[in-house]
Amino acid sequence: MSIPDNRNFKADKSMTGTANNGKRLILDGPPPDLPASYRCIFSVTLKMSAAPKIKLNNGMEIPAIGLGTWQSKPEEVVAAVSHALKEGYRHIDCAWGYGNEKDVGEGIRQSGIPRSDIWITSKLWGTYHSRVEECLDQTLSNLGTDYLDLYLIHWPVPLNPNGNHPVFPTLPNGKRDVDHSWKLSDTWKQMEEMVTKGKVKAIGISNFSVKKMEEILPTATIIPATNQLELHPYNPQHELLAYLKDKGIVPQAYSPLGSTGSPLLKDEVILGIAQEHSIEAADVVLGWLVAKHIIALPKSVTPTRITANLNGAIAGSSKLDKDDIAKIDGLAAAGKQKRFIMPPWPVDLGFDNWPPLV
Ligand code: A2P
Repeated sequence: MSIPDNRNFKADKSMTGTANNGKRLILDGPPPDLPASYRCIFSVTLKMSAAPKIKLNNGMEIPAIGLGTWQSKPEEVVAAVSHALKEGYRHIDCAWGYGNEKDVGEGIRQSGIPRSDIWITSKLWGTYHSRVEECLDQTLSNLGTDYLDLYLIHWPVPLNPNGNHPVFPTLPNGKRDVDHSWKLSDTWKQMEEMVTKGKVKAIGISNFSVKKMEEILPTATIIPATNQLELHPYNPQHELLAYLKDKGIVPQAYSPLGSTGSPLLKDEVILGIAQEHSIEAADVVLGWLVAKHIIALPKSVTPTRITANLNGAIAGSSKLDKDDIAKIDGLAAAGKQKRFIMPPWPVDLGFDNWPPLV
C-alpha cells in the first residue's frame, strides 16, 4: 500500500467534533479505514467552518450564513461582531434603522479580518426613500467602509422625510406618517444609481411581497439580488419563495429562530428531529434554511451561540434528510403558522398572514 502524501490529503469523510473549549469543529484527518500502523503519520488539523456560498443573479457569491444585528445593543454588538468574524463568519447583516451601525463597524475593525473578506449588507431606512445616497453615505461612514456588498430597501414603506421624527414620523392620530405620493419604482431607480456609482456591489429588497415587487420590477433595470424576509418554519412563505425562484431573487431569512427568546427552539417536532440526529434545535432550524438555499441571518450577542449557530447551520444542512425537510416545511400548514415581526405600518403590504389594517 502506498502512503498518501499528507500535504494534499483530505479525509474522504469529514467528521465533526467538539473541542474541550466547547467549539464545534470539523476534524480533517486520515480516513477511518486506514490501518492503525499508518495513522500516526497524519496530524489531525482542526478547521473552523466556513459557510457555503450562494450565487446571486449578478454572479456574486454571498455566504449563506450571516450574523443578524437587529436588537443587538450598541454596547453588545461590538464584541458580537468581532467574535463572529474571528469564529469564521464572513457575512454581517446590518441596517441604518437598527441604530447600531457605528458599533458594528467597530466590531469589524476589532476583528482584524480584512474588509475585502467580509460580506456587509445594510438597508435604506423609510425616511430616506427619496434620498437614497444620503442614507447610504451615513451607513458607509458609520461602518467605516467605502462600499457595501449589498444594499436593501428595508421596508416598502416610504415615510415622510419632513415629518415630526427623523426615524418614525407620526401623524396627529398617532399612526406612522407614510409618504403616499412617493413611488417605490423611484426608490429603486436611486438604488440602481448607487451600483453605477460603485458605492454598492449589489442591491435588493426586504419585506417585499409579490404585490410590492410588482411595483418595482416592470421598470427595474437591475433585478433585486435578494429579498430579506421573516422566514422560519412557522412562516415559510412557500408561494412567495416560488415567485422569488422564478425571478432569480435569492431569499434571506431574518428572525430565523423566531426572534426574541428563540421560540422555534421549543417546538416539539424540531426538538424531535434534533434528537434523532444528535444536533441542537437551532441546528435544525438554521440547517433547514441553508438546505433550502435560503440565507440564514441568526441574531445573537452571546459568544457561544454565535459560534454554535454557524457550525450548527452547516452541520444541520448536511444532516437533515428529505423527510425532515418535508416535515418542517409542513409545520405552518399543520396549524403552527405564525409571524413574530409585524410593525404597525398603515399600508397594505400584500403579505399573507398579516393582520388587517385598522
Ligand atoms: P441572544 O442574542 O441573547 O444570544 P432570531 O435570530 O430569530 O432573531 O433570534 C434571536 C434570539 O434568539 C435572541 O434572543 C438570541 O439571544 C437567541 N438565540 C440566538 N441563537 C440562539 C441559540 N443558538 N440558542 C438559543 N437562543 C439563541
